[in-house]
Amino acid sequence: MSLFSLFLITILSTLANNAQAETHTWYFEVTYVDANPDGRFNRTVVGFNNTWPLPTLEVDKGDRGIKIPPHFHGLFQNGSNQMDGPEMVTQCTIVPGQTMLYNFSVGNQVGAYWYHSHTKGQYGDGIRAAFIIHDSDFPYDYDEETVITVSEWYHDDSATLDRSFLNLYNPIEAEPIPQNLLFNDTRNDSWVFEPGKTYLAHIINIGAFVSQYLYIENHTMTVIAVDGIYVQPSEYYVDSIDDFLDDFYLQPLKEEEIYDDYDFETTVDVVMDNLGDGINYAFFNNITYVKPKVPTLITANFEDKSDLIAFNGSNHGGWPEYPMRRDTIYVRPQSYFVIRFRADNPGVWYFHCHIEWHLSQGLALTIIEAPLEIQKNENQQLTENYASICEAAGISLVGNAASNSEDFLDLSDEDVQPKPLPGGFTARGIVALVFSCVTGVLGIFMISVYGLSDIKNIEEKASSTGEGTNPKGNLS
Ligand SMILES: *[C@@H]1O[C@H](CO)[C@@H](O)[C@H](O)[C@H]1NC(C)=O
Ligand SMILES: *[C@@H]1O[C@H](CO)[C@@H](O)[C@H](O)[C@H]1NC(C)=O
Ligand SMILES: *[C@@H]1O[C@H](CO)[C@@H](O)[C@H](O)[C@H]1NC(C)=O
Ligand SMILES: *[C@@H]1O[C@H](CO)[C@@H](O)[C@H](O)[C@H]1NC(C)=O
Ligand SMILES: *[C@@H]1O[C@H](CO)[C@@H](O)[C@H](O)[C@H]1NC(C)=O
Ligand SMILES: *[C@@H]1O[C@H](CO)[C@@H](O)[C@H](O)[C@H]1NC(C)=O
Ligand SMILES: *[C@@H]1O[C@H](CO)[C@@H](O)[C@H](O)[C@H]1NC(C)=O
Ligand SMILES: *[C@@H]1O[C@H](CO)[C@@H](O)[C@H](O)[C@H]1NC(C)=O
Ligand SMILES: *[C@@H]1O[C@H](CO)[C@@H](O)[C@H](O)[C@H]1NC(C)=O
Repeated sequence: MSLFSLFLITILSTLANNAQAETHTWYFEVTYVDANPDGRFNRTVVGFNNTWPLPTLEVDKGDRGIKIPPHFHGLFQNGSNQMDGPEMVTQCTIVPGQTMLYNFSVGNQVGAYWYHSHTKGQYGDGIRAAFIIHDSDFPYDYDEETVITVSEWYHDDSATLDRSFLNLYNPIEAEPIPQNLLFNDTRNDSWVFEPGKTYLAHIINIGAFVSQYLYIENHTMTVIAVDGIYVQPSEYYVDSIDDFLDDFYLQPLKEEEIYDDYDFETTVDVVMDNLGDGINYAFFNNITYVKPKVPTLITANFEDKSDLIAFNGSNHGGWPEYPMRRDTIYVRPQSYFVIRFRADNPGVWYFHCHIEWHLSQGLALTIIEAPLEIQKNENQQLTENYASICEAAGISLVGNAASNSEDFLDLSDEDVQPKPLPGGFTARGIVALVFSCVTGVLGIFMISVYGLSDIKNIEEKASSTGEGTNPKGNLS
């Protein structure tokens, strides 16, 4: 059964680092496939060209690459925002039968990335895999390299899990527990080593929910890169559940001083709470993410002269001299992190929790960077292919989040989050409470009347139960 066709493409062109950059072109059709990766359960997954797992895509530094369904995770889409992937943030939904062309250059980026769908919980259904950019100037010695993915696995599909997760009957929003954990999309992988050799492993968690610990008994692992950034070698040692290498303290190999004092500061608070439909949502600054009717990138590209008002902050403690550079950050419970980024890539960027269930709950926000620059940049103008994907999905190519192209500031028709839970008792609640009280009082009254009434012929009844029975019913 054909789900939707999608494509990828890569093209080439540019010269990077004096090496001839190559263009890679891949074309895939997204299809449903049966698979049983944990050996326990045969289920339908989302694959490419009737196969699953999806292929690891490999390119070299400087190559022009492509992409698949949405989202090349962690990749810096430098001036190619519309190739970033998240549905209704930078592009329209790809409906069945449509072909989306992702055409971008990887530039100077190197290392281990991954690609995945950013639509609903689809990547939990299998549409995710590794994307590796090889570096001809790799700074460390090794003998052989491999790719290892870890993930969790559910026997139900994401749509079914999402329905029971975002549900009135799951008010504390307990995330679905996976049936299994996978190593390289299976439970039956073997990695053959030769003594004395050094192996380079690109380790990627392509899961939707679970964090995993990874170690090799009696062997040393040294972390030398994270999120495509080379770091000072750091021995990777897992001793206990709390004692693991915290990547936040890794120092990049190429020392890059912390950015100058910032111009704007903004604080993002995370809260989870129930709204009026009884479902538990996740909020950034009290707002749960609701998809706009027009992709935000289109809206940002729309002629508009409204002034943006920036937040004015101040005051900070000690910062690291050469801070870690990351795409994804582990946030400890009851904790926070402070990041600093240079706003030098105009576009619409999706800031979100990467626990896919929390994303379903709305833990996302969009950063709209320099919309007037987006509008000015000819390379950012939407391609014909982009427009045809939107037309096929019935999505307007102009307009704000409410799909209003007449009055940019009129958001009255916008899709919004459900209303909050009522603050006190509703009329229905009061009626229910009154009837419950009346029923309760009547019940106690009936029990009292029955309990206090005389029992007729008590002696006859007691003797008829036989000798040795205590008529008072004591357990003596
Ligand atoms: C996927 O299938 C399509 C249609 O059959 C084919 O044109 C394409 O080359 C296939 N892709 C790969 C990477 O094999
Ligand atoms: C998996 O289940 C599908 C039906 O859901 C069936 O058609 C297919 O033959 C099964 N595959 C295996 C390997 O059992
Ligand atoms: C992004 O591209 C611009 C223009 O091509 C270039 O000047 C800049 O250095 C690039 N940024 C990064 C981080 O590669
Ligand atoms: C991909 O982008 C490059 C650079 O903009 C362009 O030259 C090339 O024609 C594009 N490829 C396709 C298939 O549109
Ligand atoms: C695991 O893989 C080996 C060979 O690669 C095969 O012989 C064995 O049957 C597999 N075990 C399971 C449980 O699939
Ligand atoms: C894991 O899977 C990838 C992609 O299929 C493969 O290239 C790699 O060799 C595997 N790694 C191990 C350790 O089996
Ligand atoms: C690891 O080392 C310990 C202590 O030397 C030994 O008991 C254990 O068997 C080793 N494990 C493996 C898998 O070699
Ligand atoms: C969120 O709502 C709470 C309670 O209404 C309020 O105290 C808090 O200031 C709000 N936070 C933000 C960031 O708006
Ligand atoms: C930011 O706030 C400080 C102190 O409140 C004020 O002195 C400064 O002028 C403000 N900066 C801007 C750009 O508004």
